[in-house]
Amino acid sequence: MDISTTVTLNNGVKIPALGLGVFKSGKDTYTAVRAALDAGYRHIDTAMIYENEAQVGKAVKDSRIPREQIFITTKLWTDDMRSRKVPQALETSLKLLDMGYTDLYLIHWPLRDAKENICAYLEMEKLLSHGKTRALGVSNFEPHHLDELAQGAGLLPAVNQIESNPYMPNTSVLEYCARRGIAAEAWSPLARGRVVNEPKLNLLASKYNKTVPQIVIRWHLQRGIIVIPKSIKKERIIENSKVFDFELAEGEMALVSALDINKRSGSHPDEYKY
Ligand SMILES: NC(=O)c1ccc[n+]([C@@H]2O[C@H](COP(=O)([O-])OP(=O)(O)OC[C@H]3O[C@@H](n4cnc5c(N)ncnc54)[C@H](OP(=O)(O)O)[C@@H]3O)[C@@H](O)[C@H]2O)c1
Repeated sequence: MDISTTVTLNNGVKIPALGLGVFKSGKDTYTAVRAALDAGYRHIDTAMIYENEAQVGKAVKDSRIPREQIFITTKLWTDDMRSRKVPQALETSLKLLDMGYTDLYLIHWPLRDAKENICAYLEMEKLLSHGKTRALGVSNFEPHHLDELAQGAGLLPAVNQIESNPYMPNTSVLEYCARRGIAAEAWSPLARGRVVNEPKLNLLASKYNKTVPQIVIRWHLQRGIIVIPKSIKKERIIENSKVFDFELAEGEMALVSALDINKRSGSHPDEYKY
């Protein structure tokens, strides 16, 4: 494994296993994305609702790295699902990104009404067939949402992006996705930074001469989960990418997994607050 390691999605598209998340990166998004690309990242995770697609697009362009070498994910927000404006939403995202296509387009959050999720997803399938995105997926879908979607969708989602970190591994959803051939991506992989001071991982970190965040990112990768840690700080962006020169033993993986206290960093998908 190295920074160019990819996971092959169920439609054959390859996604880099490590990406940079830019939720709440705000005005620092541009410099964060430039720093990540300089450090070798080739995968950026944004969303319409993060209001930083334009900065992501400019950073990609200014890097002069060919577009096809960079994997861009963006997401469809609930308002555009409810108002049935899916093609317009992706068109707006692409305009802001200044790109002809996105690599992965996700439903950001399920709506309570399963028919609405199906309806949006069928529109997304058309966008896939028109080459506006290379892969489709969902985010924050529980197994029941995926089952409901399967009742009306033509295609299985390639990805389900869910909260997963040592304090809330979300194992049952991960296992469900693995059984169905849906790749899982971990959001808030560092529990929004809360794992950084986890004393139970200090010994492991010193053993490998790594930091606790590096141990946790490695744990995600060894579970076969795509991981998108966010930082706006160049040193941390670099630090988070130096996770390919050591390997956690089985018992050490279990030590990280044992931190599970079923405590989320974000909302439960069934809270439907949007
Ligand atoms: N689909 C969804 O509903 C959803 C929801 C949440 C997030 N996401 C995606 O997942 C990405 C990651 O999740 P997240 O942003 O919630 O949280 P996260 O990646 O778990 O943690 C980010 C926090 O950790 C800090 N941090 C990062 N690396 C560090 C290091 N090496 N040492 C110390 N602190 C470090 C960051 O601070 P600094 O920035 O100051 O370094 C930031 O405060 C998001 O950016 C977004 O792309 C998706």
